[in-house]
Amino acid sequence: MRRFGADYLRETRRGMWADSRDALADLRLSEAGSVLDVGCGTGELTAVLREECAGRVVGLDRDPGLLAHVAGPVLRGDARALPLPDDAVDVVVCQALLVNLPDPDAVVAEFARVARERVAVIEPDNAAVTVDSTVDAEAALARRARQRYLDGAATDVALGAGAREAFAAAGLTDISVRRYDHERVVAPPYAAREVEAATRKASGADLRERRDTMSGSEEELDALRESWRAMGRDVLRQVRAGTYKRRETVPFHVVVGGADTDRG
Ligand SMILES: C[S@@+](CC[C@H](N)C(=O)[O-])C[C@H]1O[C@@H](n2cnc3c(N)ncnc32)[C@H](O)[C@@H]1O
Repeated sequence: MRRFGADYLRETRRGMWADSRDALADLRLSEAGSVLDVGCGTGELTAVLREECAGRVVGLDRDPGLLAHVAGPVLRGDARALPLPDDAVDVVVCQALLVNLPDPDAVVAEFARVARERVAVIEPDNAAVTVDSTVDAEAALARRARQRYLDGAATDVALGAGAREAFAAAGLTDISVRRYDHERVVAPPYAAREVEAATRKASGADLRERRDTMSGSEEELDALRESWRAMGRDVLRQVRAGTYKRRETVPFHVVVGGADTDRG
C-alpha cells in the first residue's frame, strides 16, 4: 500500500474543516464520550475532532512515524483488526483511509464491531476533483495526470459516497451522506511553500515522485511530464509576476451510520 509523508498530509489537509463543519453534524461529536480516528496519519482530523468533542479522542495508525506527529493519546494498530474489544468507543471515524485499502467492506464491518453508537467515514471522490487556473493548460493537464492515477490505482480511489454500501452490508442503520468540498486556493501573496510547489512543477519533480502511482508506459509518462514542465514554467512566470491563481476542489463524502449495540 502507498506510504504517506507527514509533509504531504499536512499540505493536502491544510484548511480542511476550517471554513465549515456542517458536514460533520451527523457524527454528533458533542454527545460522544469517546472517539477513535482510524488511519489518523499526522492527526489533521484528530485535531478537529478534539475541538468538537469534550470526550476522549484517540488517533490510531499503523505507521509509528506519522503517529509521532499527533498530539494527545494514540494507538498503533491495523484498521482491519483493531486492537480493541467490541463496543469499546462511542464513535469510530476515518478520513481518506478506505480509498487506500483493498477491502473497504471488511474495514467498515470492523469499525461497526468496535463502535457503540456510530461509525463515520470521510472519503474523497478523486475522480471528481476539479482545478481552475490562470495558466490555461493546467486544468487539462491535471485531468490527464489524475486519469493516469485513477487507472493505476489498485484500490477504489473514487469511493466517495459509495462507502454507504459497505455501511448497509455491515448492518449499520440510519445511514446519512453529506458532502464537503475541500478547496485549496493559491493566490498572491504566495507562501514560501507555494513558490516551492511552482518550482517543482517547472522541474517536473512533483510528477516524477508520483510515477509509481500512475499507469502508462515510460514514453507516455515522459510525454506527460514534458507538457507538465512547460505548464510549470508558465506557473512560475505568473507567480513571479504575482498574477497566478489556482483553485482545486476535492469533494469528500461523510457517511454516518448507527451501530447496533444489541449484539445478543
Ligand atoms: C491518506 S492518509 C489519511 C490520514 C488522515 N486520516 C488525514 O485525513 O489526514 C491514510 C492513512 O491511513 C494509514 N493506514 C493505511 N493503512 C492502514 C491500516 N491497515 N491500518 C491503520 N492505518 C492505516 C496510513 O498510514 C495513513 O496515515
